[in-house]
Amino acid sequence: MVADIAYREYHPDDAESFVRLHDSCFPALSADFWREWSQGPVTAAVAVVDGEVVGTVPFHFRNLRVRPDAVVRVAWEFSVCVREDLRGTGVGSRLMDTAKGFLQGRCAAMTVYRNDELSSPYRFYARNGHQDLLYMRPWVHRGPASPSAGSLKIRTHSWEEFLTDEAQYLAVFSSAYGAYGGFPQRQAGYYAPAVNTSEYNEVPVELMVLAQRDEAGSLHGYAVVGEERDSPTLHVMEMAALDNDLAVAIALLAAVTQLAAERGIKAVVSTADSSPYAAALRALGFAPALRSQSSMVIMAYPLDPERLAGAVWRESEAAAGLEVSAWTPEREVCLHRARRDPATPVVLEMKEDTLARLLFSRLDLRAAIAQETVTTAGAGDADVEAIAQALPYTPWVYHYLDFV
Ligand SMILES: CC(C)(COP(=O)(O)OP(=O)(O)OC[C@H]1O[C@@H](n2cnc3c(N)ncnc32)[C@H](O)[C@@H]1OP(=O)(O)O)[C@@H](O)C(=O)NCCC(=O)NCCS
Repeated sequence: MVADIAYREYHPDDAESFVRLHDSCFPALSADFWREWSQGPVTAAVAVVDGEVVGTVPFHFRNLRVRPDAVVRVAWEFSVCVREDLRGTGVGSRLMDTAKGFLQGRCAAMTVYRNDELSSPYRFYARNGHQDLLYMRPWVHRGPASPSAGSLKIRTHSWEEFLTDEAQYLAVFSSAYGAYGGFPQRQAGYYAPAVNTSEYNEVPVELMVLAQRDEAGSLHGYAVVGEERDSPTLHVMEMAALDNDLAVAIALLAAVTQLAAERGIKAVVSTADSSPYAAALRALGFAPALRSQSSMVIMAYPLDPERLAGAVWRESEAAAGLEVSAWTPEREVCLHRARRDPATPVVLEMKEDTLARLLFSRLDLRAAIAQETVTTAGAGDADVEAIAQALPYTPWVYHYLDFV
């Protein structure tokens, strides 16, 4: 047992021993890549013994789209690791506590994309206050090897061509996911750095783009596909069809499965049931894995629930007079201050996991009250309706392209 472990935020002088620890746990990172990338919106909590990093929880700051009208900055966890001989002694949990301290005021939440709900790392995040917000499963193609793409023509493009035409692709993406949250907010210049993260450096991915255009050359849909160098799988990294046109989605997915068949590998789409393309996936013979076998979860730990509530609350006349607080067995949080007199005090009572869902627009408040996972004090039906509009349930998707 090591007695003197210092816990603090990462400093550039830690780079060399940080990479050493990282490489003992995960596929190697190039030291040059880490030095350059870690100068960007990246930090880490580190546990240090005699100048050597022995444990780390690294973070990549990202703008998470909670809803179409609410985007918050979050610290996305990746490559979390404690030196093997020190695991199970509380180092990881102390790193989490350290990060909760220095991240306060710098972002709204700590978030992670974690697979396998039966694994000990999943339990580690849950024990450190992270709550489940979205479940995804790999949908694997089990239908005929070469399904028909219909009459729509699909062309193949390089990733460089995609970047050159990024504005067109962004327009189709917005049309497809305009109503959704759950993913890093896209804007011009988003994609080149999105595929130059620690994860892509660890596991290089060969990217290609399948696109569907009309005769005038206007883009109607695309699928970015990626083959990991060391894994025989063709992943759909991101796909979008203008207005979520089912025929275009089916043509794209058929082209993906044909490409996978040509390469002799399987096609996988890791997505949530709320994906606008769930029907197209089923139509082509894709089926989701069982959660007990393979699942991926977006989890979050809200750092300051009151600030987060302030950032995501959608103001309205109906809610203006409501003084709303949330009670959990662990705390009481102000969700909204009344903007006029006399104020109507309302308390929403729930557990921590339900509070996280409410704050991230992942809870249908009316349904939660009806099924008694939320109880209320002081709220009439109109008040509940006003709060449900202020923190509305929003469907989420997460794109494999953003896996870090
Ligand atoms: C996941 C990981 C970072 C957790 O770090 P850690 O330092 O082992 O975490 P902790 O010690 O705080 O908690 C781990 C377990 O030890 C237990 N524990 C904590 N303090 C303890 C102590 N003083 N005595 C005995 N057990 C203790 C915890 O209850 C926990 O048990 P659980 O898994 O049954 O819930 C570490 O195990 C690791 O590096 N794993 C390999 C890399 C990895 O999988 N990373 C995740 C990538 S997303």
